[in-house]
Amino acid sequence: MSPYAHITGWGMAVPERILTNQELEKMVDTSDDWIVTRTGIRERRIASDGETTASLATKASLKALDVANIAPAEVDLIIVSTSSPEYLFPATASIVQDNLGANKAGAFDILAACTGFIFGLNIASQAIRSGSIKNSLIIGSETLSRIIDWNDRATCVLFGDGAGAFVLQAGEEESGLLSAVMRSDGSGKDMLCIPGGGSRFPTSVETVNQGMHFVKMNGREVYRFATRVMVQSTHEVVRKANLSLDDIDLVIPHQANKRIIETAARNLNIPMDRCVLNIDRFGNTSTASIPIATCEAIAEGKLNPGDNVVFVGFGAGLTWGAAVVRWSGPFPGLRVVRPPAIRFYARLRSFVKRILRKIDAVIWGSLDSRR
Ligand code: COA
Repeated sequence: MSPYAHITGWGMAVPERILTNQELEKMVDTSDDWIVTRTGIRERRIASDGETTASLATKASLKALDVANIAPAEVDLIIVSTSSPEYLFPATASIVQDNLGANKAGAFDILAACTGFIFGLNIASQAIRSGSIKNSLIIGSETLSRIIDWNDRATCVLFGDGAGAFVLQAGEEESGLLSAVMRSDGSGKDMLCIPGGGSRFPTSVETVNQGMHFVKMNGREVYRFATRVMVQSTHEVVRKANLSLDDIDLVIPHQANKRIIETAARNLNIPMDRCVLNIDRFGNTSTASIPIATCEAIAEGKLNPGDNVVFVGFGAGLTWGAAVVRWSGPFPGLRVVRPPAIRFYARLRSFVKRILRKIDAVIWGSLDSRR
């Protein structure tokens, strides 16, 4: 029988710096009242100079590995979902792999905007279910503050920075990811996008002068799309898991707007106390919002082993998706692994490898010049 993909570890990392609505009032023509009534957001976290998408992802991953009690070297696959990657390439996942010292892992990024964490969760789970890998890290990480136009009140009040990570492990018991739905509709590509800086409009003085490297959004259209697909994909994914909505203990939706979540919950006939809502403190952290909300739900005792949980999200692409997970928790184990301590050796190994690569280049260079 094929193994199941259990979620055995989780972790989140958010910057310390808090940006309140009151501070935003001084930056753009907005008000705390407008932001709270229209979105439910009161404050968000903003990365400081030293913090990046990879550094937040690494922090969240170390916590997740610690909970799962597995060493970085036991991880077979690392997937980072992000819309604010460290670079266009290499993948942010490669940097995280190096930071962690996960020296046996393949690592790559996926770009499916706010839905990316759900897509990544499904991809990693299917790799586990096929028997091709045993342990995987899936991370949602964003520093959206770096790609937002801080003069555009329509977008800058919405987003925040942060990261969340899950460890997935193969297990025999019927638990973990039970079903998933992944959807896209590229005809809505203009509704939410960063037009400049890619191969369509490569970075130039003009693209920068026109602010094409910032997030552009048609808020109203995204709003209508979101409320529709959240309901559709929740119904679909629950049916796929051979469950009914009454069997679902908790819904953890993408945190884009409190009103979107309330409308979807109402249309699904699910009381709000079965939905996780933390947008007031973090804003929309895109693909990181679901794992961050999950970490908080666990810490508050809202999500326990054996519970059926629905993750549901939507975002640029357009993309949307959902997953049903029977919550597992860490596998019992006697040995104690300390992933954060192992990190020191990972940094040392990476440093030595860089030196060796330089020596190698010098030797090859001198051999080449003799030919
Ligand atoms: N502060 C004050 N006023 C603002 C404002 C701000 N930050 N942003 C927009 N406004 C104004 C608009 O200019 C408009 O003024 P007008 O009526 O004079 O033209 C008015 O508020 C209403 O704008 P509208 O866009 O209709 O508001 P809305 O109720 O749709 O709320 C959003 C706007 C962005 C909060 C809402 O559309 C939304 O959440 N959409 C989904 C966005 C999203 O989730 N994106 C991420 C997807 S992953």
